This record gives sequence, C-alpha cells and structure tokens, in this order.
Amino acid sequence: MRLYDLKTLHMKKCVGIDQNPYFSWKIANDKNDTVQCAYQLQVLCDEECLWDTGKVESEKQSFVEYEGIALSSRTEYKWKVTVWNNYNETAEAEAQFETGLLEKSLWNAKWVESTIPRVPVTEYKYGNTAPAVFFEKEFTLDKRVKKARMYATSYGVYQLRINKKRADDREFAPEFTTYSTVLYYQTYDVTMLLKQGKNTLDMYVGDGWYFSMQASPVFENQHEKPSVLFQLEVEYEDGTTEQIISDGDETCALGPICYSDIFQGEKQDYRIGYDEKHPVEVKDYGYEMLEAQPMPPVRPTKLLPAVDVFQSPNGEWIVDFGQVLAGRARIHIDEPKDTEIVLEYFEILDENGNYVNTMFCPQKDIVVSNGTPLEHEVKFTFHGFRYIRVTGMTEVKKENFTAVLLTTEKDDYGSFTCSDERVNRLYQNVRWSQWNNMMSVPTDCPAREKAGWTGDILVYAKTALMNEDVTPFLSSWLHSLRENQADDGVVMITAPYTKLYDGVLMNTVKEFGDTRVTGVAGWSDAIVWVPYIMHQVTGNTIVLKDNYEAMKKWCDYIIRTAKEKRGYRDIPYEYDQYLWNTGFHFGEWLIPSQQIDPKHPYENAKTTSYFMAPFFGYQSVRYFAEICGLLGKVDEQNHYDEIAQQMKNAIQNGIMRGGHMPDDLMGGYCVAIAFDLVPDDLKESYKEKLVSLIQKNDYCLDTGFLATPFLLDALCIVGEQELAHQVFWQDKRPSWLYEVDHGATAIWEAWDADEAKKPGRFVSFDHYALGCVDDWMERAICGIDTDQAGFKHFVIRPQYDSKLTSCERTFESEAGMVSVKWDEHTLKVEIPCNTTATVYCGETVVNIGSGTYQFER
Ligand code: BGC
Repeated sequence: MRLYDLKTLHMKKCVGIDQNPYFSWKIANDKNDTVQCAYQLQVLCDEECLWDTGKVESEKQSFVEYEGIALSSRTEYKWKVTVWNNYNETAEAEAQFETGLLEKSLWNAKWVESTIPRVPVTEYKYGNTAPAVFFEKEFTLDKRVKKARMYATSYGVYQLRINKKRADDREFAPEFTTYSTVLYYQTYDVTMLLKQGKNTLDMYVGDGWYFSMQASPVFENQHEKPSVLFQLEVEYEDGTTEQIISDGDETCALGPICYSDIFQGEKQDYRIGYDEKHPVEVKDYGYEMLEAQPMPPVRPTKLLPAVDVFQSPNGEWIVDFGQVLAGRARIHIDEPKDTEIVLEYFEILDENGNYVNTMFCPQKDIVVSNGTPLEHEVKFTFHGFRYIRVTGMTEVKKENFTAVLLTTEKDDYGSFTCSDERVNRLYQNVRWSQWNNMMSVPTDCPAREKAGWTGDILVYAKTALMNEDVTPFLSSWLHSLRENQADDGVVMITAPYTKLYDGVLMNTVKEFGDTRVTGVAGWSDAIVWVPYIMHQVTGNTIVLKDNYEAMKKWCDYIIRTAKEKRGYRDIPYEYDQYLWNTGFHFGEWLIPSQQIDPKHPYENAKTTSYFMAPFFGYQSVRYFAEICGLLGKVDEQNHYDEIAQQMKNAIQNGIMRGGHMPDDLMGGYCVAIAFDLVPDDLKESYKEKLVSLIQKNDYCLDTGFLATPFLLDALCIVGEQELAHQVFWQDKRPSWLYEVDHGATAIWEAWDADEAKKPGRFVSFDHYALGCVDDWMERAICGIDTDQAGFKHFVIRPQYDSKLTSCERTFESEAGMVSVKWDEHTLKVEIPCNTTATVYCGETVVNIGSGTYQFER
C-alpha cells in the first residue's frame, strides 16, 4: 500500500497560508477491495508534535481539519499520515505547509503609493486609462541568506522582481477579490534570488481590476493611485533575521506601459525607460483587509504556436492559433525603431473570412519598437481570442507568434475519449471553456465581461469539479460572494460585484417597482448551489460550514420576499405566499426560439420567471434544509424542510394545477421534472408535454440558460433515454454538435452565435455555461455516477449509446481515479481504494470494491 497526492487546503504547494488547514491523501494498493480502517495524523514543527489524532478508526481521507494547538506565523510544518487497511498493512507519507502572517500586527510594512499624477478617466474608451507604475527599492543585505520570504500585495495588479528576476510566473496578483473588504497578499520564496550586498526589488503595477472602469468593485473611498505593500523577511546563515519593508524609501516611475486596461488592452512603448524617478507617499490604508491568497495563482499553463498566418480577403494580416483561448500572445518583434504594431484579438472570422469584432470593446494591444529584437508579451491584460489582426509589422511570420493560455492553476481531474470525433471535440471545447474562464474567479467569458457571474457557475459547477480540482478556487470565489451579500440577504449577480453591474441592476429593478437591488433566481442561488454541489462531488463539509450563514440569509430572503409580495399572476394567497414570483429575474434567459427585443431585454425574462423563480427558490431552500441536516442542525433542517414542502405544494396547486404552466416552453417542464416537483397524477401529462414540444421542435432543444442543464436528465427521469440521446446527437441548430460542426473550439454563449459572422451581433464564443452537458455525458454515456456524497460509492451504469463503439472516461475523485472504459463487448472499470461501486452490466448488478474489473456487456 502506498499513500499519494497529499494536499493541505486541497493544494499540493501550500506556502503562506492563514486559514486553519485541512488535509487529504489518497491510497494505492495492488490488492482489490482495499479499505482504510484507520488513520493517524500528526502535525509537527521541527520534531515537536503539535497535533496527534492518535489512531482514528475511520475511512475519512479528506477534509480532515486541524484541531491542534494554535499555529504560529511564518512557520514550516510537516504533517505525517499513517493509514491502516483491511489487510493489516500500513503506509505512511508526509507533506509540508507553511503559514503566512497570522496576525495583522505582524505587518510592519507601510502602504506606499505613487505620487505621479493620474488623469481621472471620465470616458471609458481605448487608450484613456493610466500608465502602469514601477515601484523600486534598493537595499543591502550584509550577510549570507539562508531563507527569505516575501509577503506582498498591491492596489492594481503587480509583477514582482528581485534583482530583475521574476519571483515566480504568476499573473494578476493580488487576484480579483471584493477589494473593499478583502485583498489577498502573496507569499514568495525568494531565497535564491537574493544576494549578499546590494539588491533591488521592483513591483510593476497595472490598473488591473481595482482601477478598471468596468470591473472596479463597488467602493466607498476608492484609492486614486496604485500602491504597494511588501515585507521581505530574511533569515541569515548565522541565525539572525532582518526585515526589508516598504516604508517610503522607494521610488516610483512610469515605464513602457503607457496604458493598460484589463478589458481593452495595453500599449507598450519599448522606447520609454523607467528614468524619471518620483518619491512615493506613505499611506495609512491599514491591514484589516489582508488575507493570504488561499488558492493557486493564475499562471501560463499552455503554449500554442500559431497554426496559420494569412491575408484576409480585404488584405489584412491575420494570425490563427486554431483555438479560442484566454490569455495573450508572445510575439517576436524585430522592427526598426518607432514602428508601431497594432494587435487586435478576436474570436471568429466574419462570413467573408475577415476580421470581425463580436465584443463591444476592442481587445487591442499596441507595441512600439525601440529598434532591438523583442520578445513582446503584455503584462496586465488578457484577451479572449483565436485570431490576431496584425497591422504595422513588416512581415507577419507564423513562427513569431505563440498564444499563451492563462488560467488559475488547477490539478487535472478528468479525461474523456470515445469513438466519435465530434463528441471528442465537444469535450475538448468544454475543457477549453473551463480553462479560459477561470481567471482568478469563475467568469462568464474572457473577451467581453470577464465577470464572476453567479448563474454561469451555478449551472457549470458540477462539470467544473469533475474535470479539475477547483476546490480552493471556488472556495475563494464564494468568499467574495459572501462579502458582497447585502444585509437583507440579497446575493449579487456577480462576485466580485462591480460598479458596472450595480448601475445596470439598479436601473433594471426600478422597472419592476423595486428601489433596492433584488436577488435573481438561478443566479443569486449560487450561494446555496455551489457549496451544495462541491459537497456532492468531494464530500467537503467545510465549505458548507463556511457558507452556512450566507446561505441561511439568502433562503430567508427568498422566503420573506415570497410572503411579502403578491406575484404577477392571480394565484390565491394561500399559495402565492410561498411562491417567489416577483421582482426582476433573468428568467430562463436565452431561449433559442425567443428573440430578445433590445428595447425590452427583460420582457421574456418576466414571462418565464414567474415559474422559474419559484422553482429555483424551492430547490435552494430544499438544498439548504439538507445542508442543515449535514451540519447536524436538526431544528433548522426541520424548519426549512417544512417551508420547502409548502413551496412545493404552492407550485403544484398554485402554478401547475392553477393552469399557469407555459404552453410552449420546454424549460418549465424539464426543470419541474428534474426538481421532482410534478405530482404523481400530472407526471404522465408532463412527460407527454415535454416529449411533444421536442418533437414539434424537430428534435431540437428549446431551453434557455437555466433549463438546458436539466433537459437531458429530465428526459432520462421520465424514461425517455433514447430521446435524450437523440437530442444530444442533434446537429441542427440549436444543438451542441451544430457548434462543433461549425468550427467551435470552445462552448458558445448562444446556440446561434455563428450569426455574428454577419456584423452587428455581440456574442461570445467562449462561455462554459452550456458545457454543463458534459456532466450528463459523464453520467449517462460513460456511466460514472454516485449515490453518496463525495463519490464514496460509485454507481457505474453506462447507457451504451448506439452511435458509439467505444468510450473511455476518468475522474479523479477524492479517493483517487475512477475509470470506465467500454466497447461493443466489454466494460472495464477501475475503482479507487477506499471506495466501492455498484456496476450495472446488462441484467447483472455487481457490487465491487477497489480494483480493476472487466465485464462482458
Ligand atoms: C453574461 C452571462 C450572464 C448573463 C446574465 C451575460 O451578459 O455573459 O453569461 O449570466 O449576462 O444574464
């Protein structure tokens, strides 16, 4: 037996943490049916043991929370786990973690701010934003360094260098948070970068999210200029220590980055140096908001050399990377001094094969050459793109362009291949949209809004968790979501919540008679759904505890709003008081057959929200009741269960029996079925209705944002597996395979996105939301499912799609990798140690433990 994949706070590398750690490990063994009978966990500092669980008889192998004596700041710890299995074997393994600054009083560094005047931006247009600011400090170290840690952060996004070398390859530190209350600091091991004698440290700071007109969170007293805070703690070989801190002795300067905007792009003029140095100003911004970054950083994770360079019909030079991605390009530039090169990033070619901007702002970088060969890469912006239109280069050569994928670093948790190339491409598109939309926070799309939209991750969280280790990433984002929650419980539509959306939302809610921002069904519900789904996939109860109060406040808001406001439909109060059916909602949003009227964009939202909001409200309260149970809060569980029952009753009698279901919308029926809302006597007619709507629609889906995730499942629930597969295989528009057939390399925002080949349509080709079909593919086609939170017990039941001759899927669960591989004759299954599975194979049902098995189909 062997232990592997030891993680602290679900991270392999865990330096500078300030949260109470939790631990996890995995078990490998040659023998089948291996079960962990007991574990012992010890946390040690040097050789002193701070926590010893003793031998705990338990199968628990993840989310084991530290319960020892208080940890100290800036300390390296070792943890050791011993596991006993049912074969009387033992195995041991150890890992490390290191704490950061656990008390705010340990911050001696001072906030230092640029003194360089900044013209306030009143109009948001390209090139209107401020230059990046270069902070620099020189210092001397008298002795030889044994160990050094740097704790640093900024307002704006920064890159840190010591003696002109990057401290690491992370991007967009200090990440995107609700800056008014939370600002992450980063910890760097800079031991190898320092030297005895004179050293320099610099932090180049771009506007990032904090100073962006589009992404800037809602603030009071927003700072006007970039500032930095750093504390370098050095331990010398002779055992003495020293701190080098930001203290006002730094300089700041403008450099080659003339402007940088996280949405619109960046201009670098390589002729400009960092020559004119200005003093900095010490500011008293305090330390209250500082928290250690609790997740891995954004990093360059893939390099894609250009696949083609061509001149488009209208004579422009275009570089093609063959793949829609988020990030930027590395470009070799060798041009005479003063040459200005313009790079415009875009996602598709128009109908004639020319450049087309499908976003409402440019994604544009400008480079001015200083006459020497350059390896250019922007620093403080990113784009969503497949192509770049290049102007101003003497010769556009393919070998000079490489695209860089930027994404929050995460362990890979899934793989899928099958005998059909189109379905393989669909899966790859899902994976790409996930990489492209996890840039510090889960986003809607990397080219347009780049915002932490709640609804998108609500529908996609399950797929995300089945393909990558997003536990630290989602936990961090939930922190922002909680920070933004209003006192009355309203959960915002994006997190971090930004000025842009506050403005739009305020105007919209007024049209619905509200004077304060209200919660949005299917979007705000993310506060309950995302933790709930995280628990389902990984068994993580810590995330339930952390979000408990916020979820409760949100559910109370739903319940209160339902009770206090009379709905749009004339439904008897007896039921209406349990229906959350007022106010602004996006409703089902983006139903393919319904065109949005730009003058009244939320009209069809209104026509679907009167049932969608009560459905989602019910499901959130039901999930929350279950969460209360999981946390051992029995009274609360009973209370919310009772209300959920009343809500269900109101839906059944007020909406369904009251004749208020829509006549022509699939979405209502499929969500009703998926949420188990349909009373027995209506089940048959709802099934017929859903099936007939699909038939009438030529076997194409006609579901929007909130219903599509449930469509194929709803069909399977009512026993229409074949129809579910038929809709999945559909390749007429709207369908998943239509996108693949029409050149999609990521998941589109709207089924008809290809209409944007004609000018005037603003749509994204890189939205992960509808990629949630992969969750169904994993369960239905590949057959990997569970009936126990955390996949402690697998249910392996492939639906052997007749269009496929083989299929192979892996998923890295908390216990280890499960894999299912089937072809026309056999089903091969691999189950990780410490789990069991029920395998359905034809008429036989087999219960197995860990190991590798083969069955005849
Ligand atoms: C975003 C979405 C989001 C939606 C709200 C869009 O502009 O891109 O993905 O969920 O707004 O309806």
